[in-house]
Amino acid sequence: MIPTLRHLNNVEPGMFRGEGCWHLKIDYKPALIKPGVPELLDILIFKDRESICGAIGRHQPPLGFKPESRAAFFKFTESNNFNAIILNKPFALDPVTVKKPWGEEIWFSGIEERGVSSSNGIPINFLIEIFGEFLGCSKPPILLKILAPNPEPNLGDLYFELHEKKTEVYVVTDINIESWPNGTGQIRLGFNDREIQIQGTREKFIEKYLSSVENYQRCRNKIDSKVDRMKASFGLSEDEIIEAALYRTFLSEIDKDTINDERMLRKEMNRFTKLHEVKIGDAIKVEPYIPHSLQHGVRVVEFQTPHYERYIISFGQKVITQDHWDTKAALMKAEISEAKIEQPKKLDAFQDMVADFQEFNVTRVVLPSGSELKIEEKGYCLIMGISGETKLGSNRVIKEKSYFVPPTVSLIMTNETESESCFLIARENHSDNK
Ligand SMILES: [Fe+2]
Repeated sequence: MIPTLRHLNNVEPGMFRGEGCWHLKIDYKPALIKPGVPELLDILIFKDRESICGAIGRHQPPLGFKPESRAAFFKFTESNNFNAIILNKPFALDPVTVKKPWGEEIWFSGIEERGVSSSNGIPINFLIEIFGEFLGCSKPPILLKILAPNPEPNLGDLYFELHEKKTEVYVVTDINIESWPNGTGQIRLGFNDREIQIQGTREKFIEKYLSSVENYQRCRNKIDSKVDRMKASFGLSEDEIIEAALYRTFLSEIDKDTINDERMLRKEMNRFTKLHEVKIGDAIKVEPYIPHSLQHGVRVVEFQTPHYERYIISFGQKVITQDHWDTKAALMKAEISEAKIEQPKKLDAFQDMVADFQEFNVTRVVLPSGSELKIEEKGYCLIMGISGETKLGSNRVIKEKSYFVPPTVSLIMTNETESESCFLIARENHSDNK
């Protein structure tokens, strides 16, 4: 028989001493996502010598049977439509894709109305809110995503924007070979030193650049309102994100002079900014007040805290999240200089510190064939594969595959392959683990 603990408000690890299997019910009230539906959930906890497993379902399972092994527990949960995971071992994060005008974002630890990542069929907001104490993570985890811009120039270029508080870190995982035949992509970062010198002063530079952006924006608005009308004739709303092919069809119906003006004015505006070269594996840290725009066909992994403040300086298509650009306000705050891409700080033979923010840090690990790395027990961490293959318990960390790693006694990552492997580790910064 599985003992039932009946109705509880939350699931505390301390309640489950010794080995065994327990059933309980909780009134789940979603806290991390709105609007969420409160519901009565059935929870199963299974403990053996080495693992603690949790399962979530929406009806009471038969309690007459008592699983004696982890395999039997998983079989039991599956046949009763419960989703189960092991709470004290790394588990894969299954991504959710969110469409953007410039391409798409693939979220591995996102919890938002627009999309929630999951693991073994369990949305991660359930995992964090119900099993957070077991997982060493009781609030939204570090946000890990892939930015996947469209390969087409301009269409796949992100907003040229800056942040006041947010620092971003990108690690390049792919460069589209059709966009960048020699394998070197670009990011727009900061302004062009030569132009700053030509203008002589910060004020003069801002004045010239602002006027150039405004000229471009007038032409942009003209094209965008035509595209909006075409969308409407297709029964689409103005804010609908459409496929690249349909967008191209719309543009092909706009008169050639306007299209040529747009190209010329965009070139003129971008002359004031600086493009930097990037390759696969490169890490780019974007500090506050530095204008930045990842370019088409450059795919990156990004770690961030969920802050949403941004100033949009310019964009090569219609912005749908707001009805204006913040160019002037952004330039008043912007650092007017040619930004440099800082080299990551070497930590030891295998690790570089890619970013060290107040809330979390990210290290890049490059493991030569036959070598290993110990994952220390310092709260949870997120692991993201960049290249090659690394063993993590019974899992394999490969390109763009991500794992949530709860605090465990000891965990060794090993590269048993013939070639080098690379992955990232993101960890929260607490006063006791810095
Ligand atoms: Fe940004």
